[in-house]
Amino acid sequence: MTITISGVGKVFGDFTAVHPLDLTIPEGSFFALLGASGCGKTTTLRMIAGLEEPTSGSILLGDQDITALPPHERPVNTVFQNYALFPHLDVRENIAFGLRRRGITDVKDKVDEMLDLVELGSLGRRKPRQLSGGQQQRVALARALINRPRVLLLDEPLGALDLKLRRQMQLELKRIQSEVGITFVHVTHDQEEAMTMADSVAVMYGGRVEQLGPPAELYEHPRTTFVANFLGTSNLVEAEVTAVGEDAVRLRPTGTEDTLRLPADRCPPLPADGERRVPEEGEKLLVGVRPEKISLAHADDASVPAGRNRLNGRIRDASYLGVSLQYVVDSPACPGLLVYEQNVERDTRLTPGSDVVLHWQPAHTFALDADRAEPSAAGEGVA
Ligand SMILES: Nc1ncnc2c1ncn2[C@@H]1O[C@H](COP(=O)(O)OP(=O)(O)OP(=O)(O)O)[C@@H](O)[C@H]1O
Ligand SMILES: [Mg+2]
Repeated sequence: MTITISGVGKVFGDFTAVHPLDLTIPEGSFFALLGASGCGKTTTLRMIAGLEEPTSGSILLGDQDITALPPHERPVNTVFQNYALFPHLDVRENIAFGLRRRGITDVKDKVDEMLDLVELGSLGRRKPRQLSGGQQQRVALARALINRPRVLLLDEPLGALDLKLRRQMQLELKRIQSEVGITFVHVTHDQEEAMTMADSVAVMYGGRVEQLGPPAELYEHPRTTFVANFLGTSNLVEAEVTAVGEDAVRLRPTGTEDTLRLPADRCPPLPADGERRVPEEGEKLLVGVRPEKISLAHADDASVPAGRNRLNGRIRDASYLGVSLQYVVDSPACPGLLVYEQNVERDTRLTPGSDVVLHWQPAHTFALDADRAEPSAAGEGVA
């Protein structure tokens, strides 16, 4: 069922945990609320569940206004991070709990169905303490899903699991969501988790949604420096607009005589409505490029194909990570540029102290308004 959140905000005393928020979460979608600790994710989720009363605004489920409904009258279930199972009940009885509470006694088929869904078929008679973390997590999920909620809210449900199990459960959750087809709203501070699972991600910062969209769009077209650095890493170089053409803008990075090209459709959006605007000559922008889009060539024999953006630099640090090589390059345009190269054909001359040329496709360049540089520094908020 589509969730429509209009102007929903939450103030605790004199502290605004969630600024009035507008969100539409389409029926059947896997929606993630992503952000660092304290940005208001849980509060938002609790307001949808009815566990927290909004200070302002309304919440609709389909056409029904549920803002004033108590939690148990909402067709919504929540799975929390500490999915406290009942220790004295076995798996089957934990799953059946919601049905029993509603006075339903014939639970066998429904419990079987849930056990199949979460692939715990043979463990029905075990007690929670005889299960691994991931298995307990599945029981918690089955326990919530058996009530056939229209919406399932998940608050860091994988937080207690180790990394490998977490990755495995992410794929599991996604499979289960597509099988049952109900709307999932998933809260996480893990950007990889949000990107792996969600159709749509809302990136929150300080009680506001900074940007909302499919993972690939957020990654390729970040609108704010916070998003540019919270989802992966971005190199951001300050540059002045030197020419504005029909399909591209030319910029000169501060401290250089280089020219970078920025396709017109990658110019920064107006903060208010997100529409692209035409930058003005002389204006300062932040030019962004992701570390994996950049190629490195040794300065001695750099043959950079025409039309690519390029900057000069000197390698400060090189790390060998097996799957990739990561370089830190100081450029007159910007110190500490990050470059990731796939570990395929490695140029062994690319060692600290070497002079290099960094180059990339103009289409992989994005730009942000320089005066919207707060609230972020590279790496902030990365969990
Ligand atoms: N009952 C409350 N009274 C006062 N302040 C609160 C209350 N609940 C939450 N807050 C504050 O509101 C802000 C948002 O809290 P919230 O729990 O929504 O964050 P979160 O994004 O879920 O963080 P985390 O990732 O750490 O769980 C925090 O600064 C928190 O201290
Ligand atoms: Mg939380």
